[in-house]
Amino acid sequence: MRGIEGRVALVTGAGRGIGAAIARRLASEGASVLVNDVDAEAAAEVAAELGDRGASTGGSVARPEDAGAMVALVQERFGPLDILVNNAGVTRDGMLHRMTDEAWDTVLDVILRGAFNLCRAAAPMLRRDAPHHRKVVNITSINGIYGTVANANYSSAKAGLIGLTKTLAREWGPRQVNVNAVAPGFIEGTRLTAVRDEETGLGIPPEVLDGIVAQIPVGRAGTCDDVAGLTAFLASSDSDYLTGQVVELHGGLEIVRVVA
Ligand SMILES: NC(=O)c1ccc[n+]([C@@H]2O[C@H](COP(=O)([O-])OP(=O)(O)OC[C@H]3O[C@@H](n4cnc5c(N)ncnc54)[C@H](O)[C@@H]3O)[C@@H](O)[C@H]2O)c1
Repeated sequence: MRGIEGRVALVTGAGRGIGAAIARRLASEGASVLVNDVDAEAAAEVAAELGDRGASTGGSVARPEDAGAMVALVQERFGPLDILVNNAGVTRDGMLHRMTDEAWDTVLDVILRGAFNLCRAAAPMLRRDAPHHRKVVNITSINGIYGTVANANYSSAKAGLIGLTKTLAREWGPRQVNVNAVAPGFIEGTRLTAVRDEETGLGIPPEVLDGIVAQIPVGRAGTCDDVAGLTAFLASSDSDYLTGQVVELHGGLEIVRVVA
């Protein structure tokens, strides 16, 4: 892809799952990548795979001071930031009438406040004068567009991230900063979509997984690499005229829902 080689990227929540796949893909396209995760060990392992193109940092996106430290570290290690991917996310599912303040605050703090913290901290670098566009990619979810039962905190946070995306696209467009969102559907091989573990009882029952996949027109769940590919496109100069968009990535699942 054009315009990733030599760029500097920061990917949050990249110690595993989708974020790790995005970090690997951007590095394979020639970017230097600061891999963040609140699980500092996981972030360090992913960064080690990237060799000279990787560095890692712990820290929580939910804390403004950690966000500031991440942005300072990028500058120190690789130079001014070109690509920011707000990927960190958590879930605390439950029906709204039983949802605790803690469950609401935790999810909103990581997903929505986290993206706000990073965008604000990175603003001076992203908005700088440069010969190329700078890029922000926010990983939202189809839940933020369509809603899901037992998911008010997560769906609200992801919907808020869409508002942030569109507003920043307008504010920063004149500075040649593109701000877009990816809204994945069901992505397999992540903690959020893990198959139920018989011992702990955590995860999604296999029959529920089969039911979801059966409805997807392309006949399979999405992969972390599917999300990484679209994110790389949105981080590249091939998408310089695209901003303020929410790209749904669900193998056609929503088409089925609408006509069913
Ligand atoms: N898996 C899916 O089907 C799916 C679908 C739609 C959207 N998403 C979104 O994709 C993103 C990645 O999710 P995933 O499926 O890879 O989940 P995951 O749980 O495997 O990865 C999320 C990562 O974020 C990290 N993290 C959590 N809180 C953090 C914080 N405060 N600061 C920094 N890092 C933090 C976690 O330690 C973890 O490594 C999330 O935003 C998620 O909401 C996932």
